[in-house]
Amino acid sequence: MILAITNQKGGVGKTTTAINVAAALASKNLKTLLIDLDPQANSTLTFLEPDPLQATIYQALTEDDVSIAETVAQVEKLPALEIAPSSIHLAKIEAKLLGEIDSYYRLKDALEEVRAGYEYIVIDTPPTLGIITVNALVAATHVLIPIQSSYFALEGTDDLLETIDKIKLRANPELQILGAVLTLYDKRTKLSKDIHQQVKRVFGRKLFKTVISKSVRLEESPAYRESIFTFSPRSSGAFEYYKLSEEILSRV
Ligand SMILES: Nc1ncnc2c1ncn2[C@@H]1O[C@H](COP(=O)(O)OP(=O)(O)OP(=O)(O)O)[C@@H](O)[C@H]1O
Ligand SMILES: [Mg+2]
Repeated sequence: MILAITNQKGGVGKTTTAINVAAALASKNLKTLLIDLDPQANSTLTFLEPDPLQATIYQALTEDDVSIAETVAQVEKLPALEIAPSSIHLAKIEAKLLGEIDSYYRLKDALEEVRAGYEYIVIDTPPTLGIITVNALVAATHVLIPIQSSYFALEGTDDLLETIDKIKLRANPELQILGAVLTLYDKRTKLSKDIHQQVKRVFGRKLFKTVISKSVRLEESPAYRESIFTFSPRSSGAFEYYKLSEEILSRV
């Protein structure tokens, strides 16, 4: 499975979901590759020290002689998890690939030679529906949509679903929406409950039963270069992301 974590709304929990789902899969000893496709490089910096000499996904997507395999780094505390890192250079890719006929297929093509080496590939995407996110959706087998339980939660969802439909029409007919997951949930507020109902009406059975609550531990863990499972294994965040990964596995 190649799972793109996508929502063009910013700050909805894409990266938090990508790193912790990837870590949950790897901690079950499933060989997992986390691809950071966001120039902000938040996923990368959660697990790796910044290294200016390290080749990144930008090179793998723009230079013929650099393969994804050459960019991949091993996560110290999780032997089954590897990362294809990003850096701020990835922000140049829109301009770089403009007018190239295969611009939407770069990631799909680059994954060809490495995908057999992994049971799961998880892709973190930036908060846009531009060339980078389209590359992720063309390469993916499934999409997971994190939805922040706040006012305007569903804003932009129409555009995202329309983009997914367009991609299914031609570039990637096999693409499936694996599900939507409610994030940053605060069970004390009426608003969170109302939004849960709204999101349920839109996504129906595609909405994961697991809800990710607001948790200080989840917010802190990246600063210590850890997933929630090593940073705070007994926290609600660890429990919920473990449950989510079980649900993901049951859907594929
Ligand atoms: N369940 C949670 N509880 C508390 N804080 C959270 C939770 N999920 C995410 N956060 C925090 O909210 C902020 C946004 O989350 P995150 O970076 O995962 O979103 P994103 O969708 O990847 O953002 P961007 O669109 O900028 O890439 C971060 O500071 C993160 O630590
Ligand atoms: Mg992010």
